[in-house]
Amino acid sequence: MRSRHAIIPIVATETMLSDVFPLGSRLNEAGRLEVGGCDTIELAREFGTPAYVVAEDDLLARARAFGDAAAQAGHADFHVVFASKAFPCTAVLALFAEQGLWCDVASGGELHLALNAGFAPERIVLHGNAKSQDELCTALERGVGLVVIDNFDEIDRLQRLVESQGAGGVVARSEAQRVLLRVTPDVRGETHEKISTGQADSKFGFSPAHAAEAVARVQAIEGLSLAGLHAHIGSQLLALEPFRLEVAELAKLGDFPVWDLGGGLGVRYTSDQPQAPSIEQYVSTLLAAASEHGMGAPGRRLLVEPGRALCANACVTLYTVESVKQNVSRWVGVDGGMSDNLRPMMYGARYEAHVADRFDGDVRCELAGKHCESGDVIVREALLADPRPGDVIVTPATGAYGYAMANNYNGVPRPPVIFCRDGDARVVVRRERFDDLTARDAG
Ligand code: LLP
Repeated sequence: MRSRHAIIPIVATETMLSDVFPLGSRLNEAGRLEVGGCDTIELAREFGTPAYVVAEDDLLARARAFGDAAAQAGHADFHVVFASKAFPCTAVLALFAEQGLWCDVASGGELHLALNAGFAPERIVLHGNAKSQDELCTALERGVGLVVIDNFDEIDRLQRLVESQGAGGVVARSEAQRVLLRVTPDVRGETHEKISTGQADSKFGFSPAHAAEAVARVQAIEGLSLAGLHAHIGSQLLALEPFRLEVAELAKLGDFPVWDLGGGLGVRYTSDQPQAPSIEQYVSTLLAAASEHGMGAPGRRLLVEPGRALCANACVTLYTVESVKQNVSRWVGVDGGMSDNLRPMMYGARYEAHVADRFDGDVRCELAGKHCESGDVIVREALLADPRPGDVIVTPATGAYGYAMANNYNGVPRPPVIFCRDGDARVVVRRERFDDLTARDAG
């Protein structure tokens, strides 16, 4: 499907829109928001709301920024592993696969999505603190590049699987399965406690004190090949120092051919928040720390696993106002909410909002979702241009963990994903229908 308006060249208008919006977004001559060259009011009319609207060029630019930064820093064997949990949508995965990225999967379902989207198995990294037998079997059968081992029970389970290969268990493999060990380096970055993972008391990974034993046990298993270590200290980290500390702590554990430094680079969600470190600053900081600690030596491979930084700002969500009421506050009720964006409810995450064709708002409003919970407020104290029923509202920076954590609370169908580029819009995930809500009923 194509949007109905003429192609308008993308012109960045930094004076009017902050970089929380997708690259190339602008307000057009009519004062309407354009994303990927498409008029968001027309998108709302054509595809309905709520809708996730993604600027393809933004995804591409960020994927390239990682590679360019590594090339500039002169590291030959550096790979960007997209953390698919951030936006597990086939079109997004396929775009990154075409750009030569690798893919981080944290379940059998994400592995299925990654393979289906075209990632070569050897470019897939399997994570999880509680992988099932089936997940490990499938990963071995499909030949994923790296299995990241989280705990001693998983070492035992993998040992049984590789030793039973060809004996009724896993399909026989000619080569040992390459694995990493996940270590929790006791480095805590500043972020919401629910998404902090580097601290000693984390459910993820081996403590440094157990790493040597884990290394020895894996090295003693013939069907496994220990490639190196992994760490992921947390998500939405806005300072670079914890990443430097992470590298320093990992380096104390030995010398390995592969180092996977995880993801976690934060982004800016509202224009009144400070700038996040750029992709370039993040990559160059990591690579400098890595080479300081010997991880940059020839033959060493470095991986990073960004999720949010690749996709958060590429997407805006469109809503339609259904009701406006004034009591102590002005409540603007829209047709979505915690079913399409759980982050305000889960992490107290802040977003900004605008009427999509009247950006100069100054009326203090509570942008409320449609769900039967008082906490279902998408944006508190949004300054909106006197919204009325029928107005289209836009919230930027919804690309990461929005679609990913969408749900059917209150029987609300999940929104479509619309890709926009050069004035063309196409549906890459259709809107859920009511019959999807009953599609799994048995009998
Ligand atoms: N690698 C591993 C092993 C991870 O666990 C994660 C995220 C990433 C990479 C990617 O992290 P990122 O670059 O996106 O920060 N639902 C939460 C975020 C949970 C992140 C879980 N793991 C949110 O909406 O903020």
